Amino acid sequence: MVEGELPPAAPLMARRVFVTRPIPAAGTDLLAASGARVTVWSGRGDAPRADDLRAAIAATDVLLPLLTEELDADLLAAAPQLLGVANHAAGHDNIDLPAATELGIPVSNTPDVLTETTADLTWALLLGAGRRIVEADRFMRLGNYRLWGPQLLLGEDVSPGGDGRRKNLGIIGFGRIGEAVARRARGFDMNVLVHHPGGPERVMASGLAQPVDLATLLRESDFISLHVPLTSTTRHMIGADELRVMKPTAVLVNTSRGAVVDEAALVVALRSGQIAAAGLDVYEHEPAMTAGLAELPNTVLLPHVGSASRSTREAMAVIAATNALAMLRGEPAPHCINAAVYQGDAFARRVRRPDADARSHNP
Ligand code: GLV
Repeated sequence: MVEGELPPAAPLMARRVFVTRPIPAAGTDLLAASGARVTVWSGRGDAPRADDLRAAIAATDVLLPLLTEELDADLLAAAPQLLGVANHAAGHDNIDLPAATELGIPVSNTPDVLTETTADLTWALLLGAGRRIVEADRFMRLGNYRLWGPQLLLGEDVSPGGDGRRKNLGIIGFGRIGEAVARRARGFDMNVLVHHPGGPERVMASGLAQPVDLATLLRESDFISLHVPLTSTTRHMIGADELRVMKPTAVLVNTSRGAVVDEAALVVALRSGQIAAAGLDVYEHEPAMTAGLAELPNTVLLPHVGSASRSTREAMAVIAATNALAMLRGEPAPHCINAAVYQGDAFARRVRRPDADARSHNP
């Protein structure tokens, strides 16, 4: 072989994919049909621990993790043979992306297919927290409904309601999901205010919302919904100071990442009536909840099910598997989120590794 020339494509049957927990069969079937050797961590329902993950990542060609698996620089560096990480999630804050890029490891996600499903769930939380649906359901189940009354379980209007005032929906982050949430607000005749850290252009182009600064959004909104990725800048973007300027009737909804909100400060704000209610699908220390949150009646709490519809989770599994297969072949993954990796020497060295070539002939 001429120096620098790529080896002939290795047959996939010699290549290994490690899936960190069971995913919908559509994904694993696709991987298995390629001939690749697929290992799915069963772990009796538990996620692999750090040392399990370290052993797995060092002995596979492609890793297909869930959002619960933390892949830091140290772990990624322990896998010189790894050809890629195909995350089974749209978010990728569980992976140290700069480290992966530097090490020449392509990383992909599963965007788009979950946009509408997650926007639907955001609205379920918004309506559920605003109109106290869970509290009312609990009230019924406890047998507390003995006599109807005009003051029973009063909540917040989403549409103009009795006072005829159009309500303000504040959306923080106007990516695909934020925009899908804004689209649904038209049906409730709301004014939509958006603070998009990426600038106002996308918001203006959508014709769906008015771009505003964060302080205006916090002050003016009746409902506030979070749609930013978790980064060092968005961590605790909503803390005690931000909660203090919200309306006492405000409802906060979070379907993005838990740590965007300072959860201890939120408990204080909900308990003291600084804001009316919260609908949460994600938690700062997931799966744990900050002490006090679960006891508050003015919360609707879900276990991170934003994209949890049957068809969407199946589509995510297929996308993750498709990305993994491209990585196994050393080809660009369709949903790569660090595409610069393909220009670097570190990636070229990985796909040309002599041991990778040898492995393909001696499985
Ligand atoms: C879910 O939170 C995802 O990022 O896919």
